[in-house]
Amino acid sequence: MPQKLNRWPARMDLLQSGTGLLLVMFIWGHMFFESSILLGHEAMYWVTRMFEGEHLFGRPYPLLVSAAAAIVLLLIALHALLALRKFPANYRQYQRMNTHMAAMRHMDTTLWYVQVITGFLLFFLASAHLLVVLVQPDNIGPYASSDRIWSGRFWILYASLLLVVHVHAGIGIYRLAMKWGPFSAASSGLWRGRIRLALYCIVAFYLCLGTASLITYMRIGAEHAPYAGERYVPTHASGAH
Ligand code: HEM
Repeated sequence: MPQKLNRWPARMDLLQSGTGLLLVMFIWGHMFFESSILLGHEAMYWVTRMFEGEHLFGRPYPLLVSAAAAIVLLLIALHALLALRKFPANYRQYQRMNTHMAAMRHMDTTLWYVQVITGFLLFFLASAHLLVVLVQPDNIGPYASSDRIWSGRFWILYASLLLVVHVHAGIGIYRLAMKWGPFSAASSGLWRGRIRLALYCIVAFYLCLGTASLITYMRIGAEHAPYAGERYVPTHASGAH
């Protein structure tokens, strides 16, 4: 009698790739919105109000930001849960993996290992950031964010998160492209090199963009430190909000 095929490992693989792809799209988009501070206070304030739904509903609903943070947190939890299947489960497996890696000396195996380590670090770094966004959605803006980053010393969290998340996202997309991309066995060697180069450039771009915005938030935060806690009032507004 033919054995029934177990489709669950394939489904879980697909779900892991799908959640990973969504998260990478999210973080790459997030970087552009969050770096609106490079265009000035007004621009960042406008983006903040857009996410609070003000341009659509006429007044801000910070709860929308909490809802977005909750969805991202759930996606991360699902993605991490599925990834846990592939982590070494005990010391013996860990030792075997190390021996295997030393013998192979293959770039993709090393990248997989970097993926495991950055993924592990993201458990802590991403949760800390998302928790703040989740519980204080109304505390985002040119001054609120800069005060948190400078006076609240969140730049330490963001500098580490920036590096770790972009390395993780870059390697993740490279692995997705190699796994699901339409390459023949003959051409995959050529594509491997090209995709890797493209991703090095993309990661470098996001690291530069993130560093430039982080430095801008820190500079605004340092200047605003004596008034930390006071909100930004846009030039077109008639009163405090
Ligand atoms: C809905 C969810 C999210 C929202 C609303 C959000 C919003 C923000 C905001 C407003 C900032 C500016 C600093 C601040 O106000 O504290 C920021 C910075 C940052 N966020 Fe998020 N974030 C979200 C999710 C994430 C996730 C899931 C990651 C990565 C795993 C992430 C990574 C970062 C990094 C690295 C920075 C610093 C960027 C820089 O160096 O310029 N964020 N985020």
